[in-house]
Amino acid sequence: MGVKIVETALRDGHQSLIATRMNTEEVLSALPELDKVGYHAIEIWGGATFDACLRFLNEDPWERLRKAKKICKNTKLQMLFRGQNILGYRHYADDIVEKFVEKSIKNGIDIIRIFDALNDIRNLECAVKATKKYGGECQIALSYTTSPVHTVDYYVSLAKEIEKLGADSICIKDMAGVLLPQTAYDLIKALKQNTRLPIELHSHCTGGIMEMTYMKAIEAGVDILDCAISPFSSGTSQPCTESINFALKGTEYDPKLNIEALNKAANILRPVRTKYFNNGTLNPKSLAYNPNILTYQVPGGMLSNLVSQLTQQGHADKLEEVLKEIPNVRKDLGYPPLVTPLSQMVGTQAVMNVITGERYKMVPKEINEYLHGRYGRFPAPINEEVKKKIIGNDKVITYRPADDLKPEFEALKKKYKKYAKHDEDILSIALFEDVALNFFKQRELDKKPIKIKLEA
Ligand code: CO
Repeated sequence: MGVKIVETALRDGHQSLIATRMNTEEVLSALPELDKVGYHAIEIWGGATFDACLRFLNEDPWERLRKAKKICKNTKLQMLFRGQNILGYRHYADDIVEKFVEKSIKNGIDIIRIFDALNDIRNLECAVKATKKYGGECQIALSYTTSPVHTVDYYVSLAKEIEKLGADSICIKDMAGVLLPQTAYDLIKALKQNTRLPIELHSHCTGGIMEMTYMKAIEAGVDILDCAISPFSSGTSQPCTESINFALKGTEYDPKLNIEALNKAANILRPVRTKYFNNGTLNPKSLAYNPNILTYQVPGGMLSNLVSQLTQQGHADKLEEVLKEIPNVRKDLGYPPLVTPLSQMVGTQAVMNVITGERYKMVPKEINEYLHGRYGRFPAPINEEVKKKIIGNDKVITYRPADDLKPEFEALKKKYKKYAKHDEDILSIALFEDVALNFFKQRELDKKPIKIKLEA
């Protein structure tokens, strides 16, 4: 059987290239054709898509999902889920995690890809259990990074734990696009030898090596590849769906996608890309290779955030220094993978270290909490001197961080009954409180007819 393909244009593709600004109408426009392509799944939902709907587009993300589900009769819909962080940036209580999983599945999600920034299994357990309970397909992602501790052996032992936890498949989540071809080959071979689960590879073209890495992954026996249809592929996004399909034509790996449907979908999405190019949202820089990320090991999204953060503060000239400081901060913190929320935390700390001229003179609240163990286990021992400077002799917790959190859902429901029409609204509030409330107030003002069918 050939390699399976997951289409990412409607989640990661536009997140990576146009700051997740594609609106629901644009997302839905290509779906009838994409549904005929023969994908393993279409990725459509995740933290940034949810956030951008409420914050920038004045749209209900739940409504987007329900409409997409109505169109996609043949293809599974997939979402990205940050373990105990759900789609947000902090740990949430178990009742919110479980309710979010339940409602995601009931509104149309088939596959939930769950990851934890620190690869701390305890932060995955609640979401995994809930996915199983509500009949979803559960994929667990390994947050891929490079460091002295993140070896093939490390990922193999993690994968074994993941298999025990009840995952249906494993994804190597290379958010920075730094997985080298030979490493991919060795890693996937080892994973295939040591687990029985299908292996998927998710990566980004930013560094210019990813088509080569995908080919080595295929030779090592990868089962599923994340690709984006041409108008939203390459650069900081994923390798191009049509090109990968073509490259494998006639081989044992042939994904055998429906080329006519792919062309029709690409024809629909090309003007969408042009629109965002013309209004400046799509920066041509995002489409060019940036091999520097292979040195700095920084995800494309984090790099563009750093540039805008430094520019806003009038320190655009400090970028190089900040990029050099990032590996030092990572080392001090026990080599956390640079994925949300750790990418933002490490990035901000590196900026503060450089701008103040004294390392850890200023420390964001989140880094302070991290050092108390409140994000989970450190991947490697941390720098004790740095820890002492920031938290003194405070105790570091060794239990699961969410064990301290009391149930939140019913209290929120009571507090916001004026604004929230459904449990889905409460979940939007739980994750993005002010942003969601603004959206609901606007919704009232607009008196838009609300065409939401409540789930039983
Ligand atoms: Co990605």
